[in-house]
Amino acid sequence: GKDKELIRGSWESLGKNKVPHGVIMFSRLFELDPALFSLFRYNTDCGSPQDCLSSPEFLDHVTKVMLVIDAAVSHLDDLHSLEDFLLNLGRKHQAVGVTTQSFAVVGESLLYMLQCSLGQAYTAPLRQAWLNMYSIVVAAMSRGWAK
Ligand code: HEM
Repeated sequence: GKDKELIRGSWESLGKNKVPHGVIMFSRLFELDPALFSLFRYNTDCGSPQDCLSSPEFLDHVTKVMLVIDAAVSHLDDLHSLEDFLLNLGRKHQAVGVTTQSFAVVGESLLYMLQCSLGQAYTAPLRQAWLNMYSIVVAAMSRGWAK
């Protein structure tokens, strides 16, 4: 329906430049919750989140996140096919010390990136469409924390 068109249309250009858009998203995330930065162990040598936003390992993670979003966008018609993958991804994040509460801040950072990148095209229905997809992804990942 309309939600899928809005998501696909907006991702078409963003998805071609994953790293710069992912960097906007994670810069925002560390602004909103600087403590999350310390979960990236390989960044312990860096003075500040801003220094590390350019480290290769960190940019690899940014790319990984954007590829998951890309997978979700390309599977909008059958998001449940990603459930096992997302459950395992949740488990991996539980193991590195992420809590499910952090996904709210990640969502806020995703919306911030969309707003920065889309300008006028960032509308209330578009925001809601992305939130709907994001909450499905988060719900699936959160199963990785279940006992
Ligand atoms: C792996 C942290 C959010 C996708 C990792 C790793 C860390 C980490 C420390 C392991 C090291 C690495 O591969 O770089 C975080 C933190 C997050 C976050 C602190 C925010 C609270 C996300 C989100 C996604 C994601 C939202 C995608 C929707 C991935 C992927 C991997 C990964 C695909 C690789 C998993 C594998 O090795 O199979 N994350 N992450 N991360 N993360 Fe995240």
